[in-house]
Formats: sequence, C-alpha cells, structure tokens
Amino acid sequence: MPPSSIRHILGVESSCDDTAVAVLRGDGRVLAGVINSQHDIHARFGGVVPELASRRHIENIVPIYQAALTEADISLDDIDLIAATQGPGLVGSLLVGYNFARSLAMAKGIPFVGADHMSGHILSVFLEEEKPEFPYIALIVSGGTSSIFLVTSDCDFQRLGRTRDDAAGEAFDKVAKLLHLGYPGGPRVAKMAEEGDGAAISFPRAWLSDDSFDFSFSGVKTAVLQYCRAWPADQPLPLANICASFQEAMIEVLASKTARAAHVHGVRTVVLGGGVSANLALRRKMLELCRENDLRLYCPRPEHSADNAAMIAYAGWRKYARHGPTPFSEDIYSRCRLG
Ligand code: KG4
Repeated sequence: MPPSSIRHILGVESSCDDTAVAVLRGDGRVLAGVINSQHDIHARFGGVVPELASRRHIENIVPIYQAALTEADISLDDIDLIAATQGPGLVGSLLVGYNFARSLAMAKGIPFVGADHMSGHILSVFLEEEKPEFPYIALIVSGGTSSIFLVTSDCDFQRLGRTRDDAAGEAFDKVAKLLHLGYPGGPRVAKMAEEGDGAAISFPRAWLSDDSFDFSFSGVKTAVLQYCRAWPADQPLPLANICASFQEAMIEVLASKTARAAHVHGVRTVVLGGGVSANLALRRKMLELCRENDLRLYCPRPEHSADNAAMIAYAGWRKYARHGPTPFSEDIYSRCRLG
C-alpha cells in the first residue's frame, strides 16, 4: 500500500496504564480517540502496578477498539494501516496492545507498523491545527521520561538530554504521595500550587554541569521529604507553599534547559509533549522564555499531550511512509531507543 493512498490508520497504545485506540484519517485528521485510564485501580498504591495494568488492558482492549471504530463510523475494511506502541513501556502492558494490533493486521492482511511511544509524544503536536516546521527542540515530560530532543524530521530525533533518575511526572507523583494528595499526583500538586507562593521555600535545582541537558529530580523530591520531616508535628504543613515551591523548582530547570537547547542548536521552534506538559505553570514559564528568546512555542492540547493512541497512529504512519511495515517477527522493547 503506497503511503499516499492510505485512507485510515488505526492506532493502539498500551505502554503503561492507559488503554487507547484511535482512528486517524489519511489527511491527518483524528476521527476517533477512545481511552480508558486505570487511575481507579492504581490510586490506592500511589503508582502504577504493572501486573494489574496488563490485566486491565486485556479486559479493555477489544471493547475500546470496537468503540473507536464506532466513533469513527468506519469498519476494519476501511483501515489501511495498523500502528501499535512497540516501546518503551511496561512489558506486560505493551504486549497486550502490540499483540492485539499485530494479530488483527496479520489476520486481515493489513500493513502493520510498530511505533515508538516517545516519537508519538515528539510528533503529537502535528495532531493540532497549527503545525511546527522542522527543526525543533522537543521537551518530553511524562511519568516515565524527561528528555530533550533535537527533531530534524518526522523520523529523525536526537536525544540531547534525559533524566538521570526520576522522570518529572514521577517526581510530581511521589511528592503528591508523601503529601497525601492522591494519584495521579501531577494535577493535584499543580492545583494546590495555585494557592501557594513559589518563592516561599527554596528547594534545590539540579543544573548538573553547565553544558548538560540532562535532568535530575531525585534531590528536589528528597528535599521536600526532609522539609516535611523537619516541620513541627503539632502544626499543619504549609501544603500550598510546598507544592508551589516544588513546582517552581521543577519548572525552572525544565524550561531553562529547553530554551538553552534551542539557543545552542540554533533552532527557533520549541515543542512540548508528555503528560507533565499539561502543567499550566510550565507552559507559562516556557512561553515567557520563548518570548524573551524570540522562539515559537507549540503545545498539543492536553488530550494529545498525555498518553493517547492518535499520536501513535500519526508516528506509525510517518514511520511507515519512510521505512515501510514492521516485520511481524519484531518484538516489543521496554527501554527508550531514540537518540
Ligand atoms: O504522558 P503521560 O500521560 O503518561 C505516562 O507517563 O504514563 O503522563 C502522566 C504523568 C503523571 O506522572 C502525571 O502526574 C503527570 O503526567 N501530570 C502532570 C500534570 N498532569 C499530568 N504533572 C504536572 N502537572 C500537571 N498538570
């Protein structure tokens, strides 16, 4: 099937705790996106339990696939390409979506492509009306990753920096857990931060070496823990100030390193992606730095910045156009392969 004559792409995402299926039209328009987030089963553990996640994917995958076709008002006969997340992610979770999609493709003789989850986040902004031009710097921040990429085409990504310990979303989730704010923690910390003063507590910023685009968030997380332990037990914790100051420390490092990456690589466009990029304070800070440095900023809307299947359909479609189908014998992978 020549890439230009593809009518619809089916995308399947199951790398972590979201089961998602989307239908993308051959002109890049999203016709359907159905998602089931498993927050209800993981909330009491304060994080994703891999075994529970894969079991829930197994229950969900067929109904969600059927719902996506219904929402798009098409049948499987109208699908010319099936894309599924191949990695990185939780092995048990990946296997459910990948094997479902691969089996469907094999049984119906539809071309199949394994898409990289990170490339989905890097390209998710192309699901929006306003599309960036290459090259651009992408800051991808989620529960599983915090990386900066130099993106020169829809298949060429160079990783300039990564987290050396916790991912940004993981740090938000762990701080929320120690403050008993619930799961997922990022949106709850962000909400609480709205009432607080970001300059109230000076939490550490890990800049690492001057020229490094790597991140380290375990120190700020530990600093929050130590601050709480040192707080007098008979007084309520200043939750809003803790959240605002923690968020400020996270955002300052994320935004500054991203703007510097654009400067160092002579790139005029910055793109955000991943669940944490829904954070409004991060978007505001990034916008401020982009204005100061004459950079253009593109952010996908929240349903496309968090894990979703439309970005997998898009990234798979672009990969197929460049490299053709993925052999059915290829396996999933758990660790990031980009850069
Ligand atoms: O990309 P994503 O949907 O999926 C995974 O990484 O699995 O990102 C989820 C992460 C979680 O850690 C969540 O707490 C964080 O994104 N997150 C946020 C916000 N919304 C979601 N972190 C900070 N502020 C937010 N508003």
